[in-house]
Amino acid sequence: MHRLFEHHIQTLRARFDRILADAGLDALLLGSGTAPRRFLDDTQYPFRAHPPFVQWLPHLTEHPGSWLLLRPGQMPVLYLYCPDDFWHQTPEAPNGDWTTEFEIECFADTGALNALFQGLGRTALIAATHPAFARDDWAHNPAELMTRLDFERAAKTGWELHCLRRANQIAVQGHIAAEQLFMAGASEYAIHQGYLAATAHNERDLPYDNIVALNRHAAVLHYQFQQRQVQPERHTLLIDAGAAHHGYAADITRTHAADKESAFAGLIFALDEAQRALLPQVRAGVDFVDLHLQMHRSLAQILRDSGLVNASVEAQLEQGITRTFFPHGLGHLLGLQVHDVGGWQQDASGSLRQPPAQHPFLRLTRTLQPGFVVTIEPGLYFIPSLLDRLRQSHGGEAVNWGQVDALMPYGGIRIEDNIAVTDEGCENLTRDAFAAAGREGF
Ligand code: GLY
Ligand code: MN
Ligand code: MN
Repeated sequence: MHRLFEHHIQTLRARFDRILADAGLDALLLGSGTAPRRFLDDTQYPFRAHPPFVQWLPHLTEHPGSWLLLRPGQMPVLYLYCPDDFWHQTPEAPNGDWTTEFEIECFADTGALNALFQGLGRTALIAATHPAFARDDWAHNPAELMTRLDFERAAKTGWELHCLRRANQIAVQGHIAAEQLFMAGASEYAIHQGYLAATAHNERDLPYDNIVALNRHAAVLHYQFQQRQVQPERHTLLIDAGAAHHGYAADITRTHAADKESAFAGLIFALDEAQRALLPQVRAGVDFVDLHLQMHRSLAQILRDSGLVNASVEAQLEQGITRTFFPHGLGHLLGLQVHDVGGWQQDASGSLRQPPAQHPFLRLTRTLQPGFVVTIEPGLYFIPSLLDRLRQSHGGEAVNWGQVDALMPYGGIRIEDNIAVTDEGCENLTRDAFAAAGREGF
């Protein structure tokens, strides 16, 4: 494992040296960040370390106030904030294998940084807030530099892939527990608690808030509550829940039907098949926008085959019918952030390619390259507000509304896997993790 990490740091050093040289910089400071305070309160939001810092220091995700100093050709120096603070647990000097890649200095007083950072030359820093020790002539979050860093973050190192694989293995334990709780009749809240226990995560460890949606709640794309009450009817569980390993995120969705013989279960099966059928095309050189549009074709076929829509695939696409049932994007980059940066960026200088006007929520418009990790997450939902609009439009005439109305209580379906693009094709981090946990084909 240490080899992987060493190689990761070597890759980052070469990458950052190049980028700093091009930007004419002598030094770059990456801040770990601080936990913001709540308004009119003396409590703080949970701390989330800045991603550029975590990429270098994935073992230090709980260390506010620290800085990493990068200078071309020199060993990175970690200034670890170890305040004299009897209210909180303060860090001790770290001693894992990984520390051999850094010089490490502990400091207790931020004032000391003024002296430590004298004479750095042309310097930039990346952090949410401008620290008091920064000189006026230092660049704070310079856009050109950030854009280059964001662009290059898409292709993961072997270490990063290892972390993403591991995050998937952890999340899968939660998904298996969640399904069992759903089948036993648990509430959204109880399923969420079971998920946390099975993944050994606290809420603040999660890369994003779990979406635990029963029945009609599955039609709310980012459903944010967890009802305590057990529901009298049990149709659907849509659970979109991740896990983190050294700051790297899994982002997995599974949809379960209580009645495996129902028409809704048939739709889950059909969408799952369509999702898997797309995976051989997730490979280097493929335009992600094309994959998204292809999934709309597959969905149109499902809607037609199931009798929900009586119109050809072409007619459905022309009239935007599939966008009513699948209003979000097929997927996004994944890494240190669940929606990783740079999804619309076409080059290191930051040219953007917006998604097609009809598909504004597609977060990824890049051509896939080896090392990219993306989600593939088609959906098929019964969203009342969108269906109302369709009902009133010309396209509404082709819809079998009786069948749609019967499916409304089921909410919807999303199936989401995390896929690494390789030299040969792709690796399904999620289904591999399910298979390793004894859930082949899940
Ligand atoms: N969990 C948010 C998403 O799937 O993009
Ligand atoms: Mn996602
Ligand atoms: Mn998700």
